[in-house]
This record gives sequence, structure tokens and C-alpha cells, in this order.
Amino acid sequence: VKQTPLEGGVGPPSGLEASLRLALHIMRLVGQHAITERRALSKAQDLARAIQAGVIRIGFKMSIETLRRLNLIDAYLRWLHVPLESLTIDQSNCLRLFAYWAHLGGSEEKPILPFLRASRNILGPAGSLPLERYFGTILARKPTPPSHSMSYQELLSLRWCVPVWYVVHLARWFGWKQTEDILRGHWQKPVTHVWLNTLKAEEYDMRHWVEAEGIHLSPTPLPSVFRVTGRRPIQRTEAYKRGLVQIQDMASVAVAQVANPSPDSRVLEIGAAPGGKTACLSELMGNRGAIYSVDVSSRRMRTWLRFRERLGFSIAEPIVANGTHELPFATPVENVVIDAPCSNTGVLHKAPSLKWRLRPEDFRRYARIQSEILDSASSWVSPGGYLTYATCSIMPEENELVIEEFIRKQPDFHLAETGLAVGMAGMRGLSKARRLFTHLHGCNGAFIAKLARAA
Ligand SMILES: C[S@@+](CC[C@H](N)C(=O)[O-])C[C@H]1O[C@@H](n2cnc3c(N)ncnc32)[C@H](O)[C@@H]1O
Repeated sequence: VKQTPLEGGVGPPSGLEASLRLALHIMRLVGQHAITERRALSKAQDLARAIQAGVIRIGFKMSIETLRRLNLIDAYLRWLHVPLESLTIDQSNCLRLFAYWAHLGGSEEKPILPFLRASRNILGPAGSLPLERYFGTILARKPTPPSHSMSYQELLSLRWCVPVWYVVHLARWFGWKQTEDILRGHWQKPVTHVWLNTLKAEEYDMRHWVEAEGIHLSPTPLPSVFRVTGRRPIQRTEAYKRGLVQIQDMASVAVAQVANPSPDSRVLEIGAAPGGKTACLSELMGNRGAIYSVDVSSRRMRTWLRFRERLGFSIAEPIVANGTHELPFATPVENVVIDAPCSNTGVLHKAPSLKWRLRPEDFRRYARIQSEILDSASSWVSPGGYLTYATCSIMPEENELVIEEFIRKQPDFHLAETGLAVGMAGMRGLSKARRLFTHLHGCNGAFIAKLARAA
């Protein structure tokens, strides 16, 4: 694959050219490394720190919104007889970005010339030439490929921009009406939630300080969690730098609040990095007791260490280990919290390119890992203790089915009430478990179950 440098080119770069360069770079990183758009953006920014904020905003938006609509845009380009297979990745992505820019990214008139100039500067005249004959056609034809011969699932797949198999899979579990609601949720504008860290100060004072920095907070059904409005980036505020406030989805804080460990108790946390839930657990414990935080990824555990420094959860100890294996650990604990690796179907509104990498067999594959982690971690729950299991997947294979199998194998565990003021009952009769959906609760899709071990 021919690489496109982030900087350089022929002639003075325009704002559009710089944004297009960044968008192409993000799309290439997403494709090559199977990472989310946001992670690709932070990698791209590492390479080109001098990129202006406006360029970053537009370049990121172009890439994420094009990736969100990939099947629709590709169907449209094929309908226009664009030979995507014989183009390089950058050439194909350049045409996809052009289709998005021309028709989907705002309603104003789009002149071809600036895009053409940017494309020549980035891909070189030889790289850009095979694309240029399509620019005019794309501009002239709206992206509405003919749909009269399509099945209902194919229509939904194009309408909501998801794979056809995914529509069918959702419908099998949720029925058609709820499937459309869930798909609409995948398009919902992400809400930013913050969690206020009472380890650092009183909640009343923190709200005051945060709002004085121009961040408006509205309450949610969960204590210490607020919905943020306003455009100021929270990471630039003093309150964030001092660890008073943490960007943390409501569904994520909910997991710690369900576990609800007492001060002076011991917690084993599996899938701990980057440490959002560790902070909430530690706060609930008044930073008294012990948290053993296990994660398999040393890279993510390095971020956990930075979180610990900023947020002050000093009772937690990092352990890099595989939770499916026996843990380097000797004490039973009152609370085990598993934030399991999963298919992430609850966060497709934030990381849309994930949907193109998912395969139907992934849900069962994750379920096997989740069951192994549950089996291994459950042996550390002391009699009378609790195990909280959570995923940010909405698929029953990774949730209800995993819990059902676990309870069948380990009859000394039973489902307990979560005590959560938000969410709906689990499926398949697991009414004590909680499900959160983006379209219903305005947060990440998630599943949380609390299991009690007989005393
Ligand atoms: C949903 S994320 C955890 C998020 C974290 N609890 C938080 O709130 O910030 C799942 C984590 O599980 C970790 N993981 C994946 N497989 C694992 C395994 N076999 N053992 C332990 N951790 C694992 C991943 O590295 C990832 O950090």
C-alpha cells in the first residue's frame, strides 16, 4: 500500500487538503490496525502535532462519518461503475470521502476544484488521474442506488448502514420493531457524561468549579454522574487536570455502583484498564481497603497508571495477567468485578467502523472468553460475597447466555438485585440483570448482572 505522508505535497496546502490528508490517514490506520477512529486520530496526532484544531475537527468528522456509511457509499460508487477493487486503498478512500463531502457532509454547494487540487497534491497526478473522471459523475448523481429489488433486511442494512447479517441477527433476538430502534440508537449523537471524583473534594464544590470553567452539568439518574453540555473540551479544564472530573459513560459508572464495595473490603477487578471503573470503585470504598486490578494489556495498564496518578485511587494495585488463566493471587475477596472484553456492540454510535470488522461468529467467540474469565474469577469470591459481570455488548450470547451457563455450572451463585435506578430487565427471564440501550437510556449499550455466592 502506498503511504500518504501527513505533511508535504505540491503547492500551498488548503484547509480542505490538510483535512483530507488527515481523514485518509485515519481511514488507513483504522483499516490496517483494526483500531477505532478515535485511537487512529490520536496515533495520527502523535505523528503531526502541528495540525490545527479546525483541521483536526473536519478531518476526523470526514473520516468517521464516511466510515459510518461505508456500505451505502460503496453501493453508490459501484452503481456508478467505479472499479473500487482495482484502486489502491487511498484512491478508494479518496473517492469515498469525496462522495461523503459532496452529498452527505452539509448542504452547501460543493465545487470540485478544491477537492481535485487536494487530491492531486496528496496522491500525486498519477494517483489522482484515475479518480478524476468520477468526480463529476458523483457530484451529478445523488447517493440513492436503486432499491426496488432489495429484501427488507437489505433495505434496513443500507438505511442504517450496518451489515445485512447484523440486521438479521438483531431481528432474531429483538424482533423487527426493536431492531429498528436499536439501529437508530447506533446513529444517536454520543452524549458526554462525567463522573465527579469525591475522593478529591465535595461534590457540591466540584460542580461549582467545573461550571465556573464553562462546562454545564445536568443530573442523570445515577449519583455523581452528569451529562455535559457546551463545546469546551473537558480535558483542557483545571478540574480535569486535577482529577476532579473524569469523562466516563453513565453505563460504565453503573457497573461500579452495582458492585458497591464497602470501605475496608477487598475487590478483584478483571478487565481493569484504563481504570475508569477502578476510580469509581475506590471512591465508593472511600479509598480504604484494597483493589487488585487485573488486565491482560500492559499498554492499557500504562494508561491505568496515569489514571491512578491523576484520579488518586491509591488503594488499587495493577496486575498484568490473563484473566482466563489462574491468577497470581492468593486471597478470596468480598467483591469480584468483571468488565469483560466483548464485541462492543453497545458503542457502535461512538466507534462505527467496528461494525464492518464484526463477524457473526464473534459473539460466540467472545462468549467463550467471557465464560473462561467468569469461571476463573469466581473462585476468588468469598462465601457470602458478590460477583458483578458487565459487558458493553447488547448481544444475549455475551450476556444472558453466559450468565445462564455459569449459574448452571456453579449453583452456589444466584442472581442478586443490582439496585440500579436506570435500565431495563435482562432477557430470557433474567429480570434482576440490567440492560442499558443507547436509544432508551442515552448512554452506551451495556449489560450488568450481580451474582451472590451462598454464605
Ligand atoms: C471494557 S474494557 C475495560 C474498561 C475498564 N474497566 C474501565 O472502566 O476503564 C475490557 C478490558 O479487558 C481487557 N482484557 C481482555 N482480555 C482479557 C483477559 N483475558 N484477561 C484480562 N483482561 C482482559 C482488555 O485489555 C480491556 O482493557
